[in-house]
Amino acid sequence: MNSSSPVLEASGLVKRYGRVTALDRADFDLYPGEVLAVIGDNGAGKSTLIKALSGAVIPDEGEIRMHGKPIRFSSPIEARAAGIETVYQTLAVSPALGIADNLFLGRELRKPGILGSVFRMLDKAEMQRQARQELSELGLLTIQNINQAVETLSGGQRQGVAVARSAAFGSQVVILDEPTAALGVKESRRVLNLIRQLRDKGLPIVLISHNMPHVFEVADRIHVHRLGRRAAVIRPVTHSMSDAVAIMTGATEVESDIA
Ligand SMILES: Nc1ncnc2c1ncn2[C@@H]1O[C@H](COP(=O)(O)OP(=O)(O)OP(=O)(O)O)[C@@H](O)[C@H]1O
Ligand SMILES: [Mg+2]
Repeated sequence: MNSSSPVLEASGLVKRYGRVTALDRADFDLYPGEVLAVIGDNGAGKSTLIKALSGAVIPDEGEIRMHGKPIRFSSPIEARAAGIETVYQTLAVSPALGIADNLFLGRELRKPGILGSVFRMLDKAEMQRQARQELSELGLLTIQNINQAVETLSGGQRQGVAVARSAAFGSQVVILDEPTAALGVKESRRVLNLIRQLRDKGLPIVLISHNMPHVFEVADRIHVHRLGRRAAVIRPVTHSMSDAVAIMTGATEVESDIA
C-alpha cells in the first residue's frame, strides 16, 4: 500500500495549551483508499491531532502536507474547501436549523440562472431533495420531515446527520472523531458500512474510536497515539487487540521506526 504517496501527512506537530502538551512532535500519514483508525487513551491527543489536520487548531510547530504540498489551514472552512470533511467529537451541527439546512450549511445551493447568480436566491427545494436522497441512501435516519429542527432529533440521529454531511461533501478525506459513540448497535453498523462504502469509492477515511472491535473490523491500518504522538502503526492482520491495547497503554515499548 505504501507504494503510493500519502494523501495527507504531518510531521513533528506540536500543540501546547499552557502547560499541557496535547501534541508532542506527532507524525501522521494517510494513504489513498484506506481506512486509518486512530486509537489511544483519553487525553492522548487524538482529537487535537485531527483538529490540526482539519484547520480547527493551528499547530505551534510542524508541517502538514496534502498530496505532498505543504498546507496551512487557518480554519475548518479552508480545509473543507480543500476536500477534507470532519465530524468532530463535539458535534458541529446547528440545533435550531433543519436537517437540510444543516447539510448545506456554508455551501447553500443557489437557484439556477439570474435568480441565483444576481438575486442570490437559495434553491431550497433542490437542497431538500438532495438531503432526503442522501439520508435515505445511508439508511441512517427515518426522517419524516427534512425540515425538522436538528434540536428535536435524538443524539444518535444528530450524529447521523453529521456523518451524512461528511460523506456527501468529502472529496479528498473524511475524518470521523468517535462517530458511533452516541449510536445504538444498528446505527453503528450503518456507519461502519458507510465507512466501507466510502473507502470502496476510493476516499480515504480517518476513524477515531475507542471501540476496538469496530476498529479491527474496518481499519486497514491503525495509528496508535500515546502521550501526544504516534507510538506505532499496526495492522489488524498482523496485530491483535491486546497488542494494540498494550502499545496504547505503554505496556509494550515500540521501536521508533514506524511500519
Ligand atoms: N482547548 C483546550 N484547552 C486546554 N487543553 C486542551 C484543549 N484541548 C485539548 N486539551 C488537552 O490536550 C490533551 C489532549 O486532548 P485531546 O482532546 O486531543 O485528547 P483525545 O485523545 O482526543 O482524548 P479522548 O479519547 O478523551 O477524546 C488533554 O490533556 C486535554 O485536556
Ligand atoms: Mg478526543
